[in-house]
Amino acid sequence: MIKNQVDLRKLHDEKQTDLLNAVFETQENERKRLAEDLHDSVGQVLSAIKLNLHRIDKNCAGEIAEPLLADTRQLADECIVEIRNIIRNVLPPVLTDYGLLEALEGLCVKVQETTDVKVTFKKNLTGIRFKPEMELAFYRIAQELFSNAIKHSGASFIHLTLTNDSGWLVMEFKDNGKGFNMDLVNHGFGLKNLQSRVQLINGKINTYTKPHNGTITIIRVLMS
Ligand SMILES: Nc1ncnc2c1ncn2[C@@H]1O[C@H](COP(=O)(O)OP(=O)(O)OP(=O)(O)O)[C@@H](O)[C@H]1O
Ligand SMILES: [Mg+2]
Repeated sequence: MIKNQVDLRKLHDEKQTDLLNAVFETQENERKRLAEDLHDSVGQVLSAIKLNLHRIDKNCAGEIAEPLLADTRQLADECIVEIRNIIRNVLPPVLTDYGLLEALEGLCVKVQETTDVKVTFKKNLTGIRFKPEMELAFYRIAQELFSNAIKHSGASFIHLTLTNDSGWLVMEFKDNGKGFNMDLVNHGFGLKNLQSRVQLINGKINTYTKPHNGTITIIRVLMS
């Protein structure tokens, strides 16, 4: 009977894992499709608008229209940059081309540039690539942790470290923000997704946080 129960449990766990894998795969595919659609549709139209504005400016703009046209072209430029940023965020080419270390470095630079938060990134590994599913999981986890720290914590510092600790890949994400009580907050998709992503790569996740005392999240995965 006990063996039966163990077998049933195993079957149940395997089914859960398959289901989670399918959910994340669908999510990534959807994101990719959205990025391609954005690039091909909105991106192209914006480029055409910019070209037309340039033509009007050259051929038939009067004194009054000129500054307005310059302004509108600037807006179109900004919009094109925004769309490019969204597309890169969906699946940053740096992740597939250069790997997790470079992609995390880029993420830290971007957060530092676009927010008031000071970000540091330390690592004791160089030029190493991991399994694609592991790189994607770590990258998405870092994105969510950054997003939470920026949205909820009010932190002024974020420290990210990625280390090889006796064969374990360890990512530590630390903010000096207001912290929270795990048992009292409403868990959104973010925290739940972290658990599922870590579970799928057979990792462990621990969060240490106290109100007014910052938050540390540590993820550990066996490298081989
Ligand atoms: N670094 C943090 N500092 C302070 N509070 C946090 C931090 N991370 C999470 N929280 C709290 O935990 C709650 C749940 O986080 P979670 O990521 O699950 O949801 P969310 O960020 O509100 O929404 P979603 O991630 O679904 O967009 C947040 O609403 C916030 O109150
Ligand atoms: Mg969140």
